Amino acid sequence: MKITFPDYIKNEKLKNWIQEIADLTKPDDVYFCDGSQDEYNKLCEGLVKGGTFQKLNPEKRPNSYIAFSDPADVARVEDRTFICSKRKADAGPTNNWMDPKEMENKLNKLFDGCMQGRTMYVIPFSMGPLGSPISQIGIEISDSAYVAVNMRIMTRMGKDVYKYLGEDGEFVPCVHSVGAPLKPGEKDVPWPCNSDNKYIVHFPEERSIWSFGSGYGGNALLGKKCFALRIASIMARDEGWLAEHMLILGVQSPKGEKTYIAAAFPSACGKTNFAMLIPPKAFDGWKVTTVGDDIAWIKPGPDGKLYAINPEAGFFGVAPGTSYDSNPNAMESIKENTIFTNVALTPDGDVWWEGMTEEPPKELTDWRGNKWTPDSDKPAAHPNARFTAPARQCPSIDEKWEDPAGVPISAFIFGGRRSQTVPLVYQSVNWNFGVYMASTMGSETTAAAAGAIGNVRRDPMAMLPFLGYHMADYLNHWLQFGREIPNPPRIFFVNWFRKNEKGKFIWPGFGENMRVLKWITDRVKGRAYAIESPLGWMPLYEDMEWKGLESFSKDKFNELMTVDREDWKKEVMSHDELFVGKLYDKLPKEFIHMRELLMSSLWRSPEVWGLAPEEIPT
Ligand code: OXD
Ligand code: MN
Repeated sequence: MKITFPDYIKNEKLKNWIQEIADLTKPDDVYFCDGSQDEYNKLCEGLVKGGTFQKLNPEKRPNSYIAFSDPADVARVEDRTFICSKRKADAGPTNNWMDPKEMENKLNKLFDGCMQGRTMYVIPFSMGPLGSPISQIGIEISDSAYVAVNMRIMTRMGKDVYKYLGEDGEFVPCVHSVGAPLKPGEKDVPWPCNSDNKYIVHFPEERSIWSFGSGYGGNALLGKKCFALRIASIMARDEGWLAEHMLILGVQSPKGEKTYIAAAFPSACGKTNFAMLIPPKAFDGWKVTTVGDDIAWIKPGPDGKLYAINPEAGFFGVAPGTSYDSNPNAMESIKENTIFTNVALTPDGDVWWEGMTEEPPKELTDWRGNKWTPDSDKPAAHPNARFTAPARQCPSIDEKWEDPAGVPISAFIFGGRRSQTVPLVYQSVNWNFGVYMASTMGSETTAAAAGAIGNVRRDPMAMLPFLGYHMADYLNHWLQFGREIPNPPRIFFVNWFRKNEKGKFIWPGFGENMRVLKWITDRVKGRAYAIESPLGWMPLYEDMEWKGLESFSKDKFNELMTVDREDWKKEVMSHDELFVGKLYDKLPKEFIHMRELLMSSLWRSPEVWGLAPEEIPT
C-alpha cells in the first residue's frame, strides 16, 4: 500500500519509516491521529461497537468507558521484556537480553502481516510539555484503537507534535501490534492479543521500541515504561540527565514557601497516594501539590539546580484500594473523561473495585464479564485493574505541572516496603552515600520472619524492571551526576511499613506522612534538628510535628526509628547479594568503601541508634 501522507508531516525519515512499517505489517488502512476531542469520541464509539468498550452511565461517569481485557493479558510482562544492546554486557545482569540481529529476525517474522484486517494508527506524542527543552518526541504505530485513546490521555498526543518535529527533528520510533491479524471476513474479539508470543523489545543503540502480542498498559502504551524509563534512561546516561521512576510533589507551607521533592518507590508502595497526599487537619494551611505520580525527567539547569518534569499527561493508576478514604484526589481525578480497564461494572453503569467502598454492591459484572455477588470467592476487579485519567483533572495538580522549564528539586526520597530493620525516615550524610543506600532499597515479597532479610527483593532506585542498561553503569551515572552539580538535592529514605512484634504497622497511616514530609522540607531549608546515626541524620521525637497525633507516643516513635546494630549488620551483609552476586564487575569502587564505612560505624556502641541519649538502654 502506498501511503498518502497528510501535508503537515514534513519529516522524510518519519514518512519512510511509516511506509516501511506498513509494508511489513500490511494493515487494511492507515489512520493519522490528530489528537482532537472529536477524533477521541469517534475512536471510543468504534471501540464500543467492537465490544472493547462499554460506555459508562453519563450521569454517573461522564464521557467514560470500561474495558475488560483478555484474562491472559492483564499486566506488564517482565519476563518477555528485552534490552537488545549490541553487547550483552551493556544490558547487564538484571535485564533479559537477546542479540539484536537475532531479535530483528524474530520480530520481522512476527510483524510480517500482523496488522492484516486492522487499521494502523499513527500516534504522534510528546513526553513532556510540547517545546520543553526536557521533552522528547515519539511516534507510536499501533493496530489498537484502545492504545490510541489511552495515549491521548497519557501523553501530549496530536498533530501539533509534527510542528516541533519539523523536517529533520529526532523521534523515538515505537511499533506496537496486538499480534492478532484477521483473515478476510474473520470477526474480531473484544480484546485481541497473542497468547503464544509476547515481546516487549528495546534497541538501545537505535533508540527504538517494538512491542508484540499484548494490548495492556506498559506493554502497549509505549510512551510510559518503554520510552519514558527504559529508552530515556539510556538518553539520560548519554546526555547527563536522569530519567527516574519517581513521583514529583510540591510541599507548600502556610507562608506560601514551596519545596519540590521527587520520590522513588517500588511498584505497589502507594506512589499515587503519596503524590496526592492531603495533609491532616492539624496542618492547617499546608498543601501538597502533584506534578507527577510515576516518572520524572530531571536535568541540571543553568543555575546548577535540578529541574524536573513529569513526562506524562495522565495517571495510569491501580484502581483497587483507591477510595475517598485512601486518596480523595485520585477519586476526583477519575470522575469523568476516564478509561477503566478490568474494574467491575455496577448495574447502573458505574464502576467499582475492592476497597472503593466498605460495603460492596449487591451485584456486579466482574472484570471477566461474569455476574458477581459479595459471596463470590474471586475479586470483582482484577488486582491490577487500572484507570487512565487526565492529570489536569486532579484537584491537587501543581500550578507548574506543565511548566516547560520544570520544577526545581530540593530533595529525593527513596522508600521501600520493609517490615523490619529500616526506620521511618533518615537523611543521607552526602550524595554518594545516598546513592549507595538507594541502590539497596527493597521491598519484601512475603511477610518476613523475625530478623529475616532473605526475602527482600532489592530494587535499586525502584528501577529494576525499568532500566535500559547495566544497573552498575546506572549507579556510576548517579555518582557522576552528583559530582557535576554544585549543590545536589538532599537524599532521604522512608519506610512506612515497619511492623511491631505483634506484626502490626507501627506508623499510624498514610495521611500522617505529611509529618515526615514537613521534617524533610525543614531539613532542606536548614531549619530542623537531627541526630547522627550510622545511617545518617535522623529526627528525634521533638523534631517532628505531632499536633493532632498526640496519641502517638514517644516510645512508639522510638520503636519506629530504632537502628538495631545486629539487624543492620545482617542487612549490610545482604547487600552483597546484589553487589557481589550480580553487579561486581562494574560496581562503583566507592560502594566497596562505603559498605566498609557503614559496617565499621555499626560496630561502634551503642547497640541501638536513633534514640536520645537518655533513652538509650544501658
Ligand atoms: C506501574 C508500575 O504500573 O510501576 O507504574 O508497575
Ligand atoms: Mn510505576
